[in-house]
Amino acid sequence: MVRICMLTLFLLAMQFHWSYTHGSSDTIRKAYIVYMGKAPQSKSSAIDLHHNLLSSVVKNENVVSVFPSKMRKLHTTRSWDFLGMPQSVKRNHQIESNIIVGVLDTGIYIDAPSFDHKGFGPPPSKWKGTCQVGGNFTSCNNKVIGARFYNHGAPTSNPNPSPLDDEGHGSHTSSTIAGVTVAGASLYGLAKGTARGGVPSARIAVYKVCWVDGCSDIDLLAGFDDAISDGVDLISISIGGYSDSYFDDSISIGAFHAMKKGILTTCSAGNDGPSLYTVGNTAPWILTVGASGMDRQFRTLVKVGKGIQTYGFSINTFSPKRRLYPLTSAAKSANANLTLGHSPWLCDEGSLDANKVKGKIVLCKEGLIQDYVKPLGVSGAIVSLDQQQDTGFTFIIPAAFVDTNFGDKIDTYVNSTKNPQAVIYKSRAVRNAASPFVASFSSRGPNILSSTVIKPDITAPGIDILAAYSKLASVTGDLEDNRFGVYNIISGTSMACPHVTASAAYIKTFHPRWSPAAIKSALMTTASELKIKDVQAELAYGAGQIDPVRAVDPGLIYDLSEVDYIRFLCNEGYSGTALRFFTEGNTNCSSIPNIGGHDALNYPSMYLQLNNPNTSISAIFHRIVKNVGSKKAIYKATVKAPANLKVTVVPKELAFSHLNEKKSFAVVIKGPPLKNITSVSASLEWSDAKHKVRSPILIFLAN
Ligand SMILES: *[C@@H]1O[C@H](CO)[C@@H](O)[C@H](O)[C@H]1NC(C)=O
Ligand SMILES: *[C@@H]1O[C@H](CO)[C@@H](O)[C@H](O)[C@H]1NC(C)=O
Ligand SMILES: *[C@@H]1O[C@H](CO)[C@@H](O)[C@H](O)[C@H]1NC(C)=O
Ligand SMILES: *[C@@H]1O[C@H](CO)[C@@H](O)[C@H](O)[C@H]1NC(C)=O
Ligand SMILES: *[C@@H]1O[C@H](CO)[C@@H](O)[C@H](O)[C@H]1NC(C)=O
Ligand SMILES: *[C@@H]1O[C@H](CO)[C@@H](O)[C@H](O)[C@H]1NC(C)=O
Repeated sequence: MVRICMLTLFLLAMQFHWSYTHGSSDTIRKAYIVYMGKAPQSKSSAIDLHHNLLSSVVKNENVVSVFPSKMRKLHTTRSWDFLGMPQSVKRNHQIESNIIVGVLDTGIYIDAPSFDHKGFGPPPSKWKGTCQVGGNFTSCNNKVIGARFYNHGAPTSNPNPSPLDDEGHGSHTSSTIAGVTVAGASLYGLAKGTARGGVPSARIAVYKVCWVDGCSDIDLLAGFDDAISDGVDLISISIGGYSDSYFDDSISIGAFHAMKKGILTTCSAGNDGPSLYTVGNTAPWILTVGASGMDRQFRTLVKVGKGIQTYGFSINTFSPKRRLYPLTSAAKSANANLTLGHSPWLCDEGSLDANKVKGKIVLCKEGLIQDYVKPLGVSGAIVSLDQQQDTGFTFIIPAAFVDTNFGDKIDTYVNSTKNPQAVIYKSRAVRNAASPFVASFSSRGPNILSSTVIKPDITAPGIDILAAYSKLASVTGDLEDNRFGVYNIISGTSMACPHVTASAAYIKTFHPRWSPAAIKSALMTTASELKIKDVQAELAYGAGQIDPVRAVDPGLIYDLSEVDYIRFLCNEGYSGTALRFFTEGNTNCSSIPNIGGHDALNYPSMYLQLNNPNTSISAIFHRIVKNVGSKKAIYKATVKAPANLKVTVVPKELAFSHLNEKKSFAVVIKGPPLKNITSVSASLEWSDAKHKVRSPILIFLAN
């Protein structure tokens, strides 16, 4: 039998580097830049990711109303409470402690309190993995039961490579999944409260595949290979990249092999939104996760002169030492010798006169190079931005983003006042009434690799998430930053993915035998739509925001197995060697009945992509549901659709008389040509007295 490690050898030539999908400041190891719009084209994907996060933010419809939080006791890992999973949620602790989650990431900082193993017994007997000690990584424990590292594709300068996380990302994702409950966690007092993972009794197995230069395909495949044979139950990957096909994609191949062994792989969708066609990790056997915002976000109060103030965007851990600081603008403090065409507003290299900014808060527009202004001795920076933010950003100096409207007010105030003054306060948690909403940075569909499935599949919190971190990385990742801690607040689809991995693990504790597709179906059909007004809707959030507790009892599931995915691959034109990457054998597509297009997969969502605005809408989706709810049940179909779209379900009613009984049905969709409309959203919901099983339906006009 071909093992994936053989594929690993084959793929040696590819050396394609992936990068982790979170966009916070701490990815920016080399970029001491906060740049908007005209960012330099950098080779570092981390920088690009970050740049993108800042630059491509749309004028967001989800207007945030900002007011001080009324919550007395903030929960640090607020996300789990927000998702309806309080600490008191019903759990099978014993079964949960036998669940092993494999995390392919930057390794782990095992000394963080979130990975304390007090009270844990020895690893489950099925565990066959190892702990690769070395350097400063001296041992695993009964929480982090295994740790390995792979550095064949992305060499490290570290003479003693080990699974030790010196970047923070892997510790953050791992603790969001299975960190133990720790009281009094915070980032310099921000988000103070109890930190916990979604399945705090589960075990963590770490596969360090990412290094400073990224994560290579060869290391990813080796990590997959080991995770599968070590005996993990689920795999979580907050790593992204783009591929031309499912077979030149290590995550897609690895996840297929995991699926064959009953292991669900959950992946981040990417941080390249809000543009369409940006979603990654789109293979249908992967659970692809977009990021949403919670009801708690961080804002930084900026007060200028007497009376003007705004809640800016940043994660500012610095408390002002004075009531007010002198204020200036970049334009008024420009270097006298600035060359023509070099705007001082960007606060970039050489733009400012040190004598004029020393000790002052400086107003910049659309840009700031922190490592340039910090040594000039500024007291802080206010960065006016043309684009609305929905994510906190951590600076190395007191700073905040404000909108241009407020920035212009400051500009006028500075020019018309003798001794202009301002203060930037430490950030605080505020309630965001517009939640949940899709993060603007979250990558959008459609899936460029196949036009039959909506991607991303689902959404989970990924903005301003506090979780464990590595003390070996500063809070921002900047070398000038001397703040270090075992917690950090960061944002990205990387932070959303582990929420879904943990939810899948939670479901598995109630249904140990469910297939990866069944778990995925349960999460998708119990998710709820998010607030978003533009046409992107399902292309941004898929089936919607997860509801892990409801997903334990979904009523019906849309199941899938290996043969379905092979049929899908045959339909997509994969054959020969390409197909053998997945099937290991001699699959002959001609011998597999050809069920075409959107019927190839019994997927929990329905997607029709049209290429011509003049074509009438006409499609039939065939699906099969399995009863996993009540023994006897009658489900009725409810359709939500715009007036001119005719959606008929045949039959309208499904009567089940025993568990695991399967019933098939068809959804017939007819409508006029889309003409000048880009997409039409509808939905199908099967419901008995107890369950609601919802599938999004999306018709999209590709251009
Ligand atoms: C191990 O930790 C020590 C002390 O923190 C440090 O000086 C040393 O460089 C580290 N070694 C490695 C291999 O990371
Ligand atoms: C401009 O003047 C500053 C001092 O104000 C000096 O540090 C810098 O090197 C000068 N730049 C050029 C291009 O002459
Ligand atoms: C304030 O003064 C600066 C520099 O003198 C100038 O560039 C800017 O346009 C002025 N702003 C306003 C609002 O007049
Ligand atoms: C695949 O199956 C078809 C029909 O059964 C047959 O004609 C063809 O030769 C087979 N191809 C291979 C490569 O075995
Ligand atoms: C759709 O119809 C319009 C009007 O008849 C025509 O101008 C246009 O070229 C057609 N578009 C396509 C893609 O066929
Ligand atoms: C689409 O066309 C119809 C008329 O055919 C028009 O009433 C409507 O405003 C158009 N919608 C958009 C979004 O342009």
